[in-house]
Amino acid sequence: MTAYLITSVSVVGAAPTDLLIRDGVVADVGPGLTAPDATVIDGTGLVALPGLVDLHTHLREPGREDAETVESGSRAAALGGYTAVCAMANTSPVADTAGVVEQVWRLGREANLVDVQPIGAVTVGLAGERLAELGAMADSAARVRIFSDDGHCVADPKLMRRALEYVKAFDGIIAQHAEEPRLTEGAQMHEGEVSTRLGLIGWPAVAEEAIIARDVLLAEHVGSRLHVCHVSTAGSVEVLRQAKARGVRVTAEVTPHHLLLTDVKAETYDPVFKVNPPLRTAADVTALRAALADGVIDVIATDHAPHAVEDKECEWAYARPGMLGLETALSIALDVLGPQWDLIAERMSRAPARIAGLTGHGVDPAPGVPANLTVIDPAARRTIEPAELASRSRNTPYARMTLPGRIVATFLRGEPTVLDGKATK
Ligand code: DOR
Repeated sequence: MTAYLITSVSVVGAAPTDLLIRDGVVADVGPGLTAPDATVIDGTGLVALPGLVDLHTHLREPGREDAETVESGSRAAALGGYTAVCAMANTSPVADTAGVVEQVWRLGREANLVDVQPIGAVTVGLAGERLAELGAMADSAARVRIFSDDGHCVADPKLMRRALEYVKAFDGIIAQHAEEPRLTEGAQMHEGEVSTRLGLIGWPAVAEEAIIARDVLLAEHVGSRLHVCHVSTAGSVEVLRQAKARGVRVTAEVTPHHLLLTDVKAETYDPVFKVNPPLRTAADVTALRAALADGVIDVIATDHAPHAVEDKECEWAYARPGMLGLETALSIALDVLGPQWDLIAERMSRAPARIAGLTGHGVDPAPGVPANLTVIDPAARRTIEPAELASRSRNTPYARMTLPGRIVATFLRGEPTVLDGKATK
């Protein structure tokens, strides 16, 4: 195993120091380190963070390998600074059995670019009618702890209650896609002034807020853990704020795109901006940023949602919702938050690793900890060219935008998955 000595690097924003990686762990951190056998990386001006952890990634395998595979998505993740991703269950077949979650987990191990932690479906086939075999998935080699029908809401309150009760036995989490389906029938974008002007059917904020309000009450009643996926409205933030103040065991994530973009993008009719939940208003963006800063929102999660060209380059109404996220998330975080390294490490690595229970991830580089880390050049700027992304899909909403920050290197258990900005395999 090659050793790596990163010199004069800032660890999570602290004064520059040296960092030695050897035998899969951070062997030493301190000024003036020497290691004659090590490959030296000049870390001047660079920042080392614990490897990023994504709670919400769509890898599309099995079933839509034309859009993404576990391997291509893992490579995209590594290039984005990630060392672990949680793979959503809305594959084909759906990840609702021990067999499918083990398949995804094994493919992740084979690719060995990030740790792939499968999420299991809450209901059979995501149909919202019967609970899936949650216990069998928890007991499988994939050791599933997070369950989600993401893409669909677990709309039936009785099923949601049963799911929350069931996962308590192994301290599992239900991650809800909060969307009251009766309120979003035919919806194409956020319901508001822009949708009225464009004549598109709107997805009202209350469809999200009503489900979150219901689910925090259910989680409180049952004493179980709830995670809210892709929070997108100011009203949702207020519901979460009150629930957290009462001590409800709820955590929440926001996507990079909901922190940056608004429903005004729909005026282009470019389906690259179609996403679920939809892009909201500037006031929502302001509230989401404040909630991220004060901790009402725990995590930035990408909702990386690759789609094949024919599913995106068509009329708005026919296009599938979703955007790529893994390769640009850190740049968007840097753009939105500035160089608040401790906050970035907390929201993109420590908190998601804690929520998902991923040991060895989300730990700041220090002697003896597993060398799962990423090294960033915050001063670099790069223009996003969709054709240059590692994802098999091209549906980035940031095409040709110039964004701050570049991932220089990512290490998974001491082995580089990215070096000099390029994937090592
Ligand atoms: O925009 C979205 N795309 N939202 C979801 O909830 C699902 C995702 C997908 O799977 O494409």
